[in-house]
Formats: sequence, structure tokens, C-alpha cells
Amino acid sequence: MNIDTFFDHLWQDYISMTPQAEAIANALIAQGETVKNDHVAFRTFNIGPIQLKQLEPFILDMGYQRYEPYQFPSKKLDAFGYIPPSPDMPRIFLSELRVEELTDSAQAIIYRLVDQINPDDVDDASIFWRGPLWAVPSYEDYEQLASESDYAAWLSLIGLRCNHFTINVNALNGINDIEQMNQLIEELGFSINEAGGRVKGSPSVLLEQGSTKASFQPFTFADGKRHDVTTCYYEFAKRYLDEDGNFYQGFVAASADKIFESTDRRGN
Ligand code: NI
Repeated sequence: MNIDTFFDHLWQDYISMTPQAEAIANALIAQGETVKNDHVAFRTFNIGPIQLKQLEPFILDMGYQRYEPYQFPSKKLDAFGYIPPSPDMPRIFLSELRVEELTDSAQAIIYRLVDQINPDDVDDASIFWRGPLWAVPSYEDYEQLASESDYAAWLSLIGLRCNHFTINVNALNGINDIEQMNQLIEELGFSINEAGGRVKGSPSVLLEQGSTKASFQPFTFADGKRHDVTTCYYEFAKRYLDEDGNFYQGFVAASADKIFESTDRRGN
């Protein structure tokens, strides 16, 4: 799939779930800024036809290359960063949950979801905006997952789609750092994820990041119960030059660990 087509589809699906992102992007454009995307991120389970190694070929087929692996032991996640064929294109971050590290009851819930997927449907990059590939879970199952892994609970409802876009702060003219971005977000009436601080990372690790708290949407569960759930959030990243004079290409696990919490039910 053509990379521009891929990101056009992703953005349309993402803003349908994340109205705050469109509002923030429009506010920047109204200030005369050009909004460039540093990276997008996806979440998946490490089982069945949607595990990372099954989804990765769709990313590589677009010309991306594996960059670095990342581990998040406390969140039971593994991830890879991918760099694009051209430096003006967004990076991709793909993580997966170590399902085997959850309790037997949580694993059973996840297997009931993943077992509903027809492997033949996982056939091209459009899988990344397909949403849940299974029937809606019950509120009870969602609560069980959330008690062990907010990531698992989120994925059970939202499915495969973009978890966040990321504003490239280096490409902005009137905003120079993450805290200025945080202040704009708050002026627009949205909330910042303050887990791990308002600014994650530092110039010494060559990457600083911030993010909003995820949008909310009312959601009807299989048992008819209706609750607001978190959808997706907007991130902002500022990259620094490495010793060779190139912008840092990777991610910083300690920062990403806290950014994952942008979709947590608690703290929202
Ligand atoms: Ni990110």
C-alpha cells in the first residue's frame, strides 16, 4: 500500500475516535503552523493472526525497516520501532501484549476474542484501521481485563487502529518545546497525561515527549451496559541531534512506558 494512502486512512479513522486531535491540529494550522506527524503507534495481542510478527510484513511492504526492539516488563509489553523509507515520513511503533503473563481467566477472555478472527481477513495494511475483529465483550470481561492490564482492556474494545498520532514539535515555528505544546492543549480545554511528568524524556536521551489524556466515548457492551471508555490520544515529540548530527530515530522506553497510561481509565 502507498504510504500516503495508508496515513490518510489512518488519520480519518483516528479523528473519528479522537475529535480532540482534529481540534488541536486545526488550532495549530490556524496559527500558521504546518502539522507534521512524527510517528503513529499500534497495539496488539501476541497470539493468533494479529501478533506482531504477522502484522509486521504489512509495514515492511510499505518500505519501512525494523529499527529497535523495546521491552516494557511492568506493562507486559514488547515493541518494535520502524523507520520510514524517507525521513519526511512518519515512524511506526508497534507493541504487543504478552498474553501468557496474565491470569488464566484474563487469558481465556483474550483467546475468546482472538479466536473469532478469520486469518484470511488479516491480509493487508488496512488491518491497521479495521478496529475490533471480534464481537463486543461484556462489561464484566472488560473489567476483568482492566484489573490486570489497561492495555488489554483498551484493545478489547478499540481493536486494531491507530492508538495515537504525534505532532513533530521540531517542525513547528511558534512552539519550541513540549511544555509550550502542553499549555496550548490546556488552553484548548483538553487534559495532559501527567504520569511520569508533563514532559517525558530529556535532551540527554535525545527525545522529549508529551501527550493528551485520551478522548472518551460512550460504549455499549455485550450485556447492554453503557459506559464511557477511553479511545485515543494525541502525542507530541521533540527530537535532538545525535553525535553524528542526525536526529535521533528511536523511542525511549522509560518515556513510552508512561505514555501508554494516556488511555488508562484511572486518572482520567
Ligand atoms: Ni508515541
